[in-house]
Amino acid sequence: MQKLQVFGPNVLKGKINVSGSKNAALPILAASLLSTKKIFLKNLPKVNDIKTMIELLKSLGSKVKYKKKTLIINNLKQNKRVAPYRLVKTMRAGILVLGPLLAKFGNAKVSLPGGCAIGSRPIDIHLKGLAGLGVKYKIDQGYVHASAPRGLIGSKICFSKISVGATENLLIAASLAKGTTILKNCAIEPEINDLVNFLNRIGCNIKWIAKRSIKIVGVSEIKENSYSVMFDRIEAGTYLIAASLTRGNLKIRNIIPNLLKTEVKILKKIGAFIKVKKDEIHICGSKKIKSTNLKTAPWPGLATDLQAQMMVLLCKANKNSVIQENIFENRFMHVAELNRMGAKIMIKGNKALINGNTTFAPAELMATDLRASVSLVLAALTTKGKTIINRIYHLDRGYEDIEKKLRKVGAKIKRFK
Ligand code: UD1
Repeated sequence: MQKLQVFGPNVLKGKINVSGSKNAALPILAASLLSTKKIFLKNLPKVNDIKTMIELLKSLGSKVKYKKKTLIINNLKQNKRVAPYRLVKTMRAGILVLGPLLAKFGNAKVSLPGGCAIGSRPIDIHLKGLAGLGVKYKIDQGYVHASAPRGLIGSKICFSKISVGATENLLIAASLAKGTTILKNCAIEPEINDLVNFLNRIGCNIKWIAKRSIKIVGVSEIKENSYSVMFDRIEAGTYLIAASLTRGNLKIRNIIPNLLKTEVKILKKIGAFIKVKKDEIHICGSKKIKSTNLKTAPWPGLATDLQAQMMVLLCKANKNSVIQENIFENRFMHVAELNRMGAKIMIKGNKALINGNTTFAPAELMATDLRASVSLVLAALTTKGKTIINRIYHLDRGYEDIEKKLRKVGAKIKRFK
């Protein structure tokens, strides 16, 4: 199993180009199943979750190939309707093929995503929404067996809770349903908007009608077209935090700064110097990092995917801080490892009480999930001496070329077996 070694402390200086968004690309790849034509996708990140989703599409009968940097998906003969546990277990976005398969064929069998390190992963909101479109389902031996004997039929659905995944599944399914669907209490993360833009590009008819409401008029045909996936705002946020943390000086490029307003506001508050340009943010960390209290929330709040990275930063603050995790019940797996490096973080329910003024000490560490893993890399960058991080396959699920990008801006980081 591969490991990372970081030899710190490192001050990051230079330019980082941000890759395409994993969280936008996964639902877009799932949505390609609606089509019986070719879809051309650009700006997909080279990360393992995307590889897994492509494997899942292939197992469903899609023909997929890269030509230069464009992924060409040919669904002319796509005909299978079973998404196996083997491919869904490592990546809960696998459940997103349920909506398009039902829309296209009227039946599907998809493995339940199961739990994962950051908490239980229910799909009740997805299933209730699909039932609203006429889907009957049962859960048997770890699989959802679903069918819509009369096809999907447009309807009004109000989600009981804001869910990114359920909003995506329903958006995709309703695109080929008979009649009009109104979805209320939708997630409005930028990645949802990217999915809407993609679906409209391939011939769907979707409009935002209020802040959290979407109208989808079902269409009968999907067009051949190309689409370029948005930038990864979580990757961008991670590198912005890295600059603040190492008192570095970074230009974060290929982004839409408007979609990072929350992060910029927080980082300015803790003391970073930030200049926002058209498609770039220039950030310099300050000597003094000021403590603050944060809570994760659906967009436009602080993304749960940046909670672990923010926590490392607040370990270095001048006073104590609190982070409240409001999306997942168990997303504090990084805390035990950070405490092994000398942090003083206490968990109370969904709050982490973080002592400031931490000097991290080197240690051998274990990555536990994607964002927890990157938080350990960030901590290691500020640590004097050699830190080893095990099980970095988690990191490879979602960060393209992380060591290359960090090395280019001055990190002493290498991968070994
Ligand atoms: C969530 C995050 C998303 C992040 C992703 C990966 C939010 C709102 N969602 O998306 O930003 O990129 O994780 O870390 O911040 N839930 C149910 N039943 C369901 C579906 C969800 O109870 O059927 C609950 C979840 O347990 C969670 C909350 O709703 O507490 C939000 O989950 P959801 O947005 O669906 O999760 P993801 O789509 O994975």
